[in-house]
Amino acid sequence: MMKSFKIGDLTIKLPIVQGGMGVAISLSGLASAVANEGGIGVISAAAIGMTEPNFEKNYRNANKNALRKQIQKARSLTDGVLGVNLMVALSDYDELLKVSIEEKIDVVFMGAGLPLKLPQFVLDTGFENIHTKFIPKVSGAKAANLIFKYWASKFNHVPDAVVVEGPLAGGHLGFKKQELIDNNIKLSTLIRETVEVVAVFEKQFNKEIPVIAAGGIYTGADVKEIMKAGAKAVKMGTRFVTTHECDADIEFKNSYINSAKEDITLIASPVGLPGRVIGSEFVDKINNGETKPFKCPWKCLKSCDFRTVPYCISQILHNSAQGKLDQGFAFAGSNAYRATEIVSVKEVFESIKEEYANAVVETINVNRLTLMSKAKVAV
Ligand SMILES: Cc1cc2nc3c(=O)[nH]c(=O)nc-3n(C[C@H](O)[C@H](O)[C@H](O)COP(=O)(O)O)c2cc1C
Repeated sequence: MMKSFKIGDLTIKLPIVQGGMGVAISLSGLASAVANEGGIGVISAAAIGMTEPNFEKNYRNANKNALRKQIQKARSLTDGVLGVNLMVALSDYDELLKVSIEEKIDVVFMGAGLPLKLPQFVLDTGFENIHTKFIPKVSGAKAANLIFKYWASKFNHVPDAVVVEGPLAGGHLGFKKQELIDNNIKLSTLIRETVEVVAVFEKQFNKEIPVIAAGGIYTGADVKEIMKAGAKAVKMGTRFVTTHECDADIEFKNSYINSAKEDITLIASPVGLPGRVIGSEFVDKINNGETKPFKCPWKCLKSCDFRTVPYCISQILHNSAQGKLDQGFAFAGSNAYRATEIVSVKEVFESIKEEYANAVVETINVNRLTLMSKAKVAV
């Protein structure tokens, strides 16, 4: 049986976090369905305002309104644990963080940048008795150590948990392209190293700080395996895309189902990071240097200079979420090709639980056999 896990005073029935997926792939539909099954359901805030009519007129307001609406809608559909995923690189990161806290979201996950100033932001905004837990996403022990050390020395505070995302994940990746091609970095090693770093702060602050593993975790057996390295929970994105409740268009989900292993490839994103996607004619054009000129009235990413980048990442991701795969690409984890049909979130959970239980039995059997053969040798 998979065990529950705790983030501070928050108990999560199952150690499964659904990865926030933008643009508009994980909204209230998917997040509430996951929360109803006992995991943490996560709404992605990246360019969420694109789901609003007339978002071009006031992009920042559209983002805030859409996020508030999606949190409230998800809350009306579940009593379970809900999160928001924010990219630190978003130019309206602070505003969306404020909306999330105002709406009393249970957890905020922060990726694509180091959220060093978060405690200062919380202090400055004057929020009191915040119930929200703050969890950075990093690509290894070094970045985790940097954040924990900074928060500890400046604010006498540390994150409530940390997500370590390895090189097999979908979406933007915190690794160099060559590291991804070489494929020598193991998630289990990253987890072990991060658990070691975090243990120092657990002792110093006398609190448990779970390390959550992400990237390429697809089955219950994967969950069991990564827990051996010290992860207390997992964060899964790809597996939840091919569900009825996933908020993307059916064509986006079908692009996973119709993909083969060799179709999963890498692109260079204007965010300044590599991204993993499902290959297509559109991706070939981008990889061959074809640009998609655009006007940018809002500048959604701090680091993006629309005059020099080859395409608008938000627009392209929103196009694909709407099923327009000739005008965008589908972010996808390295396991995306394994999906064969669209199922319910409930079925995904049942399957992960069964796979996990089978892996436990298998381990017991292997241990028994090893013991028996040792005993035979001894006789
Ligand atoms: C379609 C898709 C979109 C994603 N979008 C985001 C995003 O907007 N922000 C983010 O921090 N991570 C994003 N991710 C990463 C997920 O939150 C999660 O960490 C990742 O999917 C885990 O790896 P897996 O896909 O192998 O399970 C995305 C992943 C996918 C597959």
